[in-house]
Order: sequence, then C-alpha cells, then structure tokens
Amino acid sequence: MLEINISGLKLKSPIILASGILGVSCSTMKRVINSGAGAVTTKSIGPKPRIGYKNPSIIEVYPETFLNSVGLGNPGIDDFVSEIKEIKNYNFPLIVSVFGDNIDSYLEVALKAENAGADALEINISCPHAEISCIGINKDLTHSVITELKKRIKIPIFVKLNPNVTDICEIALASENAGADAVVAINTLEAMIIDVNVKRPILSHGSGGLSGRAIHPIAVKKVYDLYKVLKIPIIGCGGICEWKDVVEFFLAGASAVQIGTALYQGFDIISKINYNLINYLEEKDYHSISDIRGLAHQYKVQEVPDFD
Ligand SMILES: Cc1cc2nc3c(=O)[nH]c(=O)nc-3n(C[C@H](O)[C@H](O)[C@H](O)COP(=O)(O)O)c2cc1C
Repeated sequence: MLEINISGLKLKSPIILASGILGVSCSTMKRVINSGAGAVTTKSIGPKPRIGYKNPSIIEVYPETFLNSVGLGNPGIDDFVSEIKEIKNYNFPLIVSVFGDNIDSYLEVALKAENAGADALEINISCPHAEISCIGINKDLTHSVITELKKRIKIPIFVKLNPNVTDICEIALASENAGADAVVAINTLEAMIIDVNVKRPILSHGSGGLSGRAIHPIAVKKVYDLYKVLKIPIIGCGGICEWKDVVEFFLAGASAVQIGTALYQGFDIISKINYNLINYLEEKDYHSISDIRGLAHQYKVQEVPDFD
C-alpha cells in the first residue's frame, strides 16, 4: 500500500529522510530505515570539508518549529565516499545531497557520489543561510547547473527547491527543462529571531532557515502550485509531524515526502506515520498511496469575485 516508485527508485514507504538531519553516518541512516523510511538523503556534501557556523546554530522557536543556521558543515566528498560505500552494504535506497559553489564543483561532487554508489542525487541549490549553493534563486543558473549534471550523471537527479523566491514554479520549470527527474519542495524558509534583552539576533550567523510544523502549510501550497505546472514528480518536504501531513502533501500532488525536524521526537515517528497511513488508506478504500495523489485539485476553488 505504501510502496512507491520515484524515478525508478523502489521505496517500501513514501517517507524519505530529509537532508541535514541524521544523514552523516551510516549507523543513524540504518536506524532511520529500520524505523520504516523508504530511503535516506544524506547531509548536503560539498567539495571540501566545512566546519559550518558557530553555536548557537539551532533553536526551537515554537513547539515543533526550529530555526537553524548550521551553514552546510560537512566532511567533504573525499571523506564521505567511504560512508557511501559502507551504506551500500546494507542495500537501501540512498540519495546523496550535493552542493558546490560553481558548476565544476557541483559536477565533481556529483560524479564522486555516483561512483561511490549513490542511487540518486539531490542537488541542493537552495540553502538559505550559506552564500554558496544559492543558485536556486536564479532560473538561468539553475538550468545551467542541471543541464551540465544531466550530461554526465546517469542516476536520477532531484532538485531541492528554494522557497525564498518570488516564483518557485519558474525555478522548478527551469529544472524540469534541464532534465531533472524530480523536485523536492521545500528547503527551509529564511527567518530570524532577535533576543530583546541583548538586542541581537540569537543565531551566531544572524539569520537562519525555519523548519518544522510552522512551515507545513507553506510547503503544501508550494507543492499544490508546482503540481499544476510540472510533469516530473514532486517530493513534498516541510513540517511533517504526523500522518495527516503526509496525506495533505499527496493530495496537493506529491509523489513522495521527506521528514526532517520532527525526528527530534525519536525514530518511532516514522513507523507511527506508516501505520496510520495504512489505516487511512484502508478506511477510505484506496489500494495505494499513489491513488490519492493530486486529488485536492479536483476541488474547484472559488475564483476572486468581481466587484459589483
Ligand atoms: C538542522 C538542519 C539542517 C539541514 N541541513 C540541510 C542540508 O544540509 N541540505 C538540505 O538540502 N537541507 C537541509 N535542511 C533542510 C531540510 O532538509 C528540510 O528541507 C527542511 O528542514 C524542511 O523539512 P522539515 O520541516 O521536515 O524539517 C536542514 C534542516 C535542518 C533543520
């Protein structure tokens, strides 16, 4: 019932681990899979090791809603290759998230990840708090990066979209036209909180990216809009905390979903969501979660009324 096929990847559940959460070591990724996830996405990996920003770099703003600016800290692809190879011993679908600061470095990381055994690549063009990897605010740059990657990479390429743009559909269409196999919507939303006593932003970097429950309705709307214009599949991401959030993403048009922030509650959340999704589908007499994809679009929303 929950099995899906996304760009040729066969997943036992539509729930994928989102990039940046528990995705740097084989042992934690194995635990995520054992808790019922269909695939894992690694932390975004770049051409060189990066320390990232100093603490405080993550803070809970409201219940289940976080602001972070970890700043793409990662071990670098040369070091990470051995982790990818180890993960491949366990035979579960592995999506490696890659970033660079120009086309050549994206390509270098992508090729190394593919050679090490990644099943798909997620191209992070969208980190809101690191100046590099912000290609995704420009449709022409996005088109160039994805076109070059598609010329050399054989495994599926997913593009992680930046919600901090005027028109996310424009960037998604540029990705699709360049040959992307799917898009992931959305990355975190640019945000800031200021301490009123010390009168300075709380995060060391100043601004950060908002994730978790508060961004879910925003992510649903982006998926809904993207479904109207794209032919390639959409992976919904943002604020999944319970099974209903997954259903909403599918009804808006997603073909799979990613979960990140809510995992701070523990790994069990994934098995609970899977269990409740099956109950929902059985109760409503659906055979597969894919049967509900895009159904919210059948409802004709009210147009803006004319002035009398
Ligand atoms: C601490 C933290 C680190 C993140 N690091 C990355 C990253 O390296 N690459 C990336 O594409 N997204 C990263 N993200 C964004 C998540 O993958 C996801 O798009 C976002 O958090 C929304 O999903 P969520 O509300 O389920 O967490 C990070 C998010 C958090 C909270």
